[in-house]
Amino acid sequence: MRTASEHAKTIVKATAPAIEKHGLAITTAMYARLFQNAEAAAMFDKAAQDSGEQPRRLAGAILAYAKNIDKLENLGPAVNRMVARHVESGVKAEHYPLVAEALLPAIRDVLGAETAPDEVLAAWGEAYWMLADILIAAETEAYAT
Ligand code: HEM
Repeated sequence: MRTASEHAKTIVKATAPAIEKHGLAITTAMYARLFQNAEAAAMFDKAAQDSGEQPRRLAGAILAYAKNIDKLENLGPAVNRMVARHVESGVKAEHYPLVAEALLPAIRDVLGAETAPDEVLAAWGEAYWMLADILIAAETEAYAT
């Protein structure tokens, strides 16, 4: 399990106001990048995408994560929902790098290099993989049962 450093957690928490304001723009940009990969695109429900429902859900999840990165126990029910949807959709560990490679550049695209310099992207990279490892472990267990 990867964990984010205290330094990274502090930076991620400090970006919560920017994520609150621009989260939907970030997740919309993220999906545009992710869907250049046909295999990833095929996994998503098109109606939830077209209605903006899916980018909204992901933006909400990212904001909740930024705010609670030092008290992850608050995220239990949300994590369980993500795991359930991921297992229904066939999400596997090998898909997680695709989302990281779409999300981190999307943060830079929307917030700009001043609000999201390399240090901020590195902190979000650590944070992403900490959450990803929690999801992957729970999903691996769910697939095995
Ligand atoms: C840390 C990384 C991730 C986070 C935080 C995340 C978050 C979420 C959230 C919040 C939902 C909505 C759950 C609900 O219905 O309430 C969701 C659904 C979903 N996620 Fe993820 N996810 C992550 C990684 C991935 C990856 C790697 C894939 C595969 C490419 C993926 C594919 C999906 C799919 C297919 C759905 C169902 C939505 C639909 O059918 O449109 N997710 N995820």
